[in-house]
Amino acid sequence: MKNILHIISSPRGDASFSIKLGNAIIEKIETANPGSIVRTTNLNDSILPHLSASHLASFFTPEDQQTSDNKETARASEEAIADLKWADVIVVGVPVYNFGIPSALKAWVDHIARAGKTFNYSASGAEGLLKNKKVYVALASGAVFSEGPMQAYDFASPYLKSVLGFLGITDVETYRVEGTAIPDLAENALEKGIDSITV
Ligand SMILES: Cc1cc2nc3c(=O)[nH]c(=O)nc-3n(C[C@H](O)[C@H](O)[C@H](O)COP(=O)(O)O)c2cc1C
Repeated sequence: MKNILHIISSPRGDASFSIKLGNAIIEKIETANPGSIVRTTNLNDSILPHLSASHLASFFTPEDQQTSDNKETARASEEAIADLKWADVIVVGVPVYNFGIPSALKAWVDHIARAGKTFNYSASGAEGLLKNKKVYVALASGAVFSEGPMQAYDFASPYLKSVLGFLGITDVETYRVEGTAIPDLAENALEKGIDSITV
């Protein structure tokens, strides 16, 4: 059995391709690992706001010196990190927005990437503290970024791979529903994405 964490960042609910693709990945993992448990975090529920001055004050105050306000401010971040530590497998749903990731997902990254919690700096450089985890990125885009003329604009997946790798999660695989804005490709884009899953 696996502990599976599904991070949703599309606000489009049942219409979302990244959510459908993420669900298809999870179904396959569950089939291969009976008894798996799925936790879902929908970032559109505004649980993780953009970082404010009070978040930074809280994150950079040693725990034994934190006020109760500091602790309350950091609570959502602590919970997001606890979910990550709990998970064996993390499925990150990503609609491509303006060549990057949605701001709700960037806010999640800002809340989980914390010195002393998910990475450390030492004399030999940075060390990620999240080990032995697998990430599947379920990416949806109007254009095609995996090949062809737009490949040079494929920023979302490499960015997530880099930042998660920095936190110690080096096993990151991306699946795509792409070309949903291109008439000849749109019709089969979801089916093609789901068929490509090899978990
Ligand atoms: C605000 C916004 C920005 C977008 N920017 C891009 C983009 O830069 N490149 C692209 O290929 N598609 C872009 N799209 C299209 C989405 O990536 C596409 O509709 C995708 O299916 C959305 O994911 P979802 O179905 O999971 O919501 C954009 C859509 C929106 C709403």
